[in-house]
Amino acid sequence: MTHYSGRRARLAELLPAHDVEALLVTSAVNVRYLTGLSSSNAAVLVRVDGSALLATDNRYIDKTGGLDVPAVEASDVAARLAAPGVGIEAASMSVATFNRLGGGLVPLEPLVERLRAVKDEDELELLRTACAISDQAFADVCGAIRPGVTERDVARLLEARMIELGADRPAFDTIVAAGENGAVPHHAPTGRQVRAGDLVTIDFGANYHGYHADMTRTVSIGEPAAWQREIYELVAEAQRCGREALAPGAEAWAVDAAARSVIKEAGHGDHFRHGLGHGVGLAIHEEPFLGPSRTGRLEDRVPITVEPGIYLPGRGGVRIEDTLVTREGGPELLTKTSKELLAL
Ligand code: GLY
Ligand code: MN
Ligand code: MN
Repeated sequence: MTHYSGRRARLAELLPAHDVEALLVTSAVNVRYLTGLSSSNAAVLVRVDGSALLATDNRYIDKTGGLDVPAVEASDVAARLAAPGVGIEAASMSVATFNRLGGGLVPLEPLVERLRAVKDEDELELLRTACAISDQAFADVCGAIRPGVTERDVARLLEARMIELGADRPAFDTIVAAGENGAVPHHAPTGRQVRAGDLVTIDFGANYHGYHADMTRTVSIGEPAAWQREIYELVAEAQRCGREALAPGAEAWAVDAAARSVIKEAGHGDHFRHGLGHGVGLAIHEEPFLGPSRTGRLEDRVPITVEPGIYLPGRGGVRIEDTLVTREGGPELLTKTSKELLAL
């Protein structure tokens, strides 16, 4: 059994509980996970007996020859595979497509996403490489982060270095936020120059063979002021508590709380308004998610980020983010760059 047929067999086992004879998978990432085909227009039908049929258009049909699943060419891939009694991925299919395909389809909750959360060792090896490339790129580019370079310069340098080191592409749009811009968690890099006295938050990662690394470090330009050191140490402590709470069986909200309580108790609860982390894999944000109202328990072999932050409007911010993997006996750290406050 290949990885792909094994994954399809695990999906097929979930279908009887939903009263469908097959699932029409239309999410591009899920199609890739189940067949190995990376494309912008494909769907795969997975039946309860584990058999499957892939449909894609003439741009990609040549890529299906080496796959372990039969394929047909169609431009309207969903229409080619849809039939009454078939489940669909409600989170991925548009209402327009659903209406066009006619009756009898059964909208279902995310099923493939549930399977994707737990990785096999080959997937973990790809993620390890994605994270190692990210660590190395950061080390190589650090020397260039000095007064006068712009946020955009730093982002482009990091992205170019990751590609030189073997990344297929950046895992997402790199964030570089200097000084007051650091108060915006997902700030897009601008022409703002880095200046002495800034904290600079850099959130980036490599995509390697489809797998996404995700890491954030905040550095200081020159010696940090007392308030900067104070929020840095708080975020570092919260991040350590979050990492230590990562374990198979841990509840998603409880891991979030382990980190958040450190920040709250220091009076900065209102300055940390996003969830603690998220799964990574073939998507940059995927199941499971860590946040105050997230339910469910972590499983073994789940790559996930831990990324608390403190954001002070008008002044700046700190975020520290690692990608880790849940393991019996303690999480495996994939992003290994030091978390000591680096004064450049
Ligand atoms: N880089 C996006 C995130 O940290 O979630
Ligand atoms: Mn990130
Ligand atoms: Mn993240």
